[in-house]
Amino acid sequence: MMNLEDKYKKFELINAQSELGGGVERTERQHKAGRLTARERVEILLDTDTFVELDKFVVHKATDFGMEKNKFLGDGVVSGYGKIDGRLVYVFAQDFTVFGGTLSRANANKIIKVMDLAMKMGAPVIGLNDSGGARIQEGVESLGGYADIFYRNVMSSGVIPQISAILGPCAGGAVYSPAMTDFILMVKESSYMFVTGPEVIKTVTHEEVTKEELGGAMTHNSKSGVAHFMADDDEQAMMMIRELFSYIPSNNMEEAPLKSCTDDIRREDEKLQTLIPADPNKPYNMLDLITTVVDDHNFFEVQPHFAPNIVIGFARLGGRSVGILANQPAYLAGVLDINSSIKGARFVRFCDAFNIPIITFEDVPGFLPGTAQEFGGIIKHGAKLLYAFAEATVPKITLITRKAYGGAYDVMSSKHIGADINFAYPTAEIAVMGADGAVNIIFRNALTDEEKQKAVDDYRETFASPYKAAELGYIDEIIYPRQTRYKLIEALEMTSNKSKSNPSKKHGNIPL
Ligand code: HXC
Repeated sequence: MMNLEDKYKKFELINAQSELGGGVERTERQHKAGRLTARERVEILLDTDTFVELDKFVVHKATDFGMEKNKFLGDGVVSGYGKIDGRLVYVFAQDFTVFGGTLSRANANKIIKVMDLAMKMGAPVIGLNDSGGARIQEGVESLGGYADIFYRNVMSSGVIPQISAILGPCAGGAVYSPAMTDFILMVKESSYMFVTGPEVIKTVTHEEVTKEELGGAMTHNSKSGVAHFMADDDEQAMMMIRELFSYIPSNNMEEAPLKSCTDDIRREDEKLQTLIPADPNKPYNMLDLITTVVDDHNFFEVQPHFAPNIVIGFARLGGRSVGILANQPAYLAGVLDINSSIKGARFVRFCDAFNIPIITFEDVPGFLPGTAQEFGGIIKHGAKLLYAFAEATVPKITLITRKAYGGAYDVMSSKHIGADINFAYPTAEIAVMGADGAVNIIFRNALTDEEKQKAVDDYRETFASPYKAAELGYIDEIIYPRQTRYKLIEALEMTSNKSKSNPSKKHGNIPL
């Protein structure tokens, strides 16, 4: 019979064995590749000494291909819960040192367990992905495991935040779990995501492409828009998740944590008075406006490399977390196109699902003309943004800094689709179209150059201002740029008890 000491020793031994993952050699290989191990990542992600690991001794049940003799405690995923800034989070981290972090029936069950706990307790799930995909030796059991996870991703969507970091391979159908989460972070030159890899592509389409070009961090952050953030290394990725989480609530019944605000809420910024150029064709950087007005000038931008003609991200105003969506006149004149509409719409829906007020800064000349846009379906994609804004019931505050032309005026959180407070600067131009275009259409070619110039000036005077819209009550207040911070905070406070719900329905039919 084992004495007590032996029993504790055995426990200590198997504990240490589990923590070793796939062993020293494979850990060294992981480090050599510039990557941390699953446990090292979790340690950095969570507050010190808060990680509680579950299912540390789970092993797979496979018997084919000699697998019954090939077992590792934990079976390739480290899972459990812990805290970020004192707030509960659930986490799973695929351990590449054990069977390449691949998904077995047993380790899928571990992931499912934390996903179910997270839903019950109303806390986010953070997935650290680093895996060769389905565990080949397990066949359909592994596929079943994926589908069980996908189903939970969908059921959790809009209830608890789901955040994915891609820290190594993530290929084939495995990409669809992160794809259904709210945010994806990737690490430069060490992570990749694709449905079919370079070899298959070469065989089928004869295209030659590297893994990095096909599905690396920059590709998904700039070209495809699949990813939202890009980190230089694993450690930075963990820090970015911590920062992201600070802006969002733990579930859809809560509000984001209020942070004490030491930045003067009445701060006026004289430099804003001259930020918008008098010449409507001159660009300026919308980020200058955003970073000037938000608390401590801190703007956490989301998808900065994708569709930069729209800017999205999180900040705080008077300590309250807000989602900011802004046209960017410094890129393509801030025009709305397919990519920017999709980028904006998804962000608006995230904020709405998680009770985060939306601040819209508007300077938009309209939708981008061209066959590429029309053939690509700008009608349905532009409608996504319109739909998302109209559907959102969180506080919505809009500021028109300059152009609000045509359909884009309606789309960009206008009064008519439910914005609560609509501000404009005296520099705002709210009209069906720009003065030159309008005069060309109204008078065709019947004017001399001199007459045309006069007609343009008249049009601009009459329509390209905020006053017509203010007369009609479509703009609630015209403000000086220097007052922006205070005015936004005041409006946020006024709307803080907003209670609005849309008609009851199974779900709407957003034009996908
Ligand atoms: C079982 C696997 C595995 C897999 C890797 N390993 N992939 N074990 N099933 N799918 C094991 C290797 O045998 C090895 O074990 C260890 O993981 C590390 O793999 P290496 O090849 O040595 O590492 P590396 O050179 O870095 O290459 C990593 C890799 C490559 C690119 C991921 O292993 C690879 O291409 N694997 C196959 C990927 C794949 O085809 N997966 C199925 C896709 S279909 P040892 O013991 O030597 O350490 C899919 C469907 C999901 O995922 C469907 C969802 C709907």
